[in-house]
Amino acid sequence: MTDRRHLAVTAARPPGGWTDDAALSAVVDALGLTIEYEILEGGSPARVYRAGTSAGADLAVKVLVPAAGAVDGHDLASFRRKLRQIDRLQALAPDLAAHYLPVRHVLDGDGWSAATTPFYDSADLAAPLRRSPHGTREFFRQYAAVIRTLVLHGYAAQSHPTPAGHVAQVVVGRFLRRLPVLHRALPAELMTAERLTVNGVRCQAPHLVLERLAGRLAPLAPARLMAPAHGDFNTRNVLVSARPGAAVDDFRFIDPRGSTEPWDPVYDLAKTLFSLSVWDPALRTGFSVRSSRRHGYQVGFRQPVFPGYRAAIHRFLPRLAACQGLSEVFRDDPGWLERLLLTHDLHVLAEAPCRLSDRKPKPDLRGGFSTPAELALGHYLLGTLLINDLAAQLGSTGRVDAERHLALVADHLPHG
Ligand SMILES: Nc1ncnc2c1ncn2[C@@H]1O[C@H](COP(=O)(O)OP(=O)(O)O)[C@@H](O)[C@H]1O
Ligand SMILES: [Mg+2]
Repeated sequence: MTDRRHLAVTAARPPGGWTDDAALSAVVDALGLTIEYEILEGGSPARVYRAGTSAGADLAVKVLVPAAGAVDGHDLASFRRKLRQIDRLQALAPDLAAHYLPVRHVLDGDGWSAATTPFYDSADLAAPLRRSPHGTREFFRQYAAVIRTLVLHGYAAQSHPTPAGHVAQVVVGRFLRRLPVLHRALPAELMTAERLTVNGVRCQAPHLVLERLAGRLAPLAPARLMAPAHGDFNTRNVLVSARPGAAVDDFRFIDPRGSTEPWDPVYDLAKTLFSLSVWDPALRTGFSVRSSRRHGYQVGFRQPVFPGYRAAIHRFLPRLAACQGLSEVFRDDPGWLERLLLTHDLHVLAEAPCRLSDRKPKPDLRGGFSTPAELALGHYLLGTLLINDLAAQLGSTGRVDAERHLALVADHLPHG
């Protein structure tokens, strides 16, 4: 990228070590910025601000001062790899790369990093689903265009044989590797229980379910791995232009996974579904969790989920299957649907430890706040419910009834 500036910031480490505010000040000084406001939409421990330059440019500034014990993906090395991934896509998949916001500045300090992108006046991909119960039509019209760019112009640029054990290592292993972080933060009686009741359903602890599932993963393996087109495809990492009269192709991607290794598009499709089913409602409304000796855990959202989200969850897989071009990609990949649901469930579980390392305030729609531990607990409980159902269905028929499976989080949740 020719118009990117890379700066090594030599400001001395403050006596107590770098804080978010101290690193932001160093960035403001280095670039001569005026900070307008903080953006709290992100899903990582990084802090993001809207800022102006003295030359009148409007930027988003992202600053990461990693905390000790951050989960993989929330560390400095991953932050820097995101920039390398975007650069690599320029050569590999130019039509996709044109939909990434360009990185204008990269700043490396002693123990922190920052990057800027042009501020893009936009809403997240799921916004139409919140505006109106009928927003599903607009959402799927937009998503079809987004998927065409992501998969057909992005992922499809490369094809690699899938290494043995890919699903176990990448999809399942991501949760198991992060489990110790949860053990340190969630109640010991929950984390040591082999069995627990969630929303009236007797469940086994998720790591035990995953042990049982280990021998059943081979038929779910991707037919091939493809270009690393994104890798963290939540609905807030797709910015849809807010310009009146914007075309369906006026959207930008930000914040990829930070990997240049071959990847499976199903991982990203499952991330969109997870955004609608659990992640985005949880961040916007908070979880409500009650527990009693008699009934076990009751977990839901603090207020009813937007009707548009529920409708979109149920239509998501049929719409994907009908998406032009996607059926070609999955023609010789008979396990894609079950793999997508398994990956969805593991996104729910693996998000629990992630919530613990995102320390930003999490305001909800009622003006309350969710703590990292509350968000982690809700994800863990819903993930437990889902993975038990998936294992039971796979065990009895070798397939998963997606409608029934997703109803566990879309339709049958207590709230309040
Ligand atoms: N260039 C930009 N223009 C407009 N909004 C942005 C821009 N960059 C980031 N954002 C907003 O900030 C949020 C967090 O940024 P992101 O890079 O995704 O951080 P995180 O790693 O915390 O998810 C995004 O979801 C989006 O709402
Ligand atoms: Mg993000």
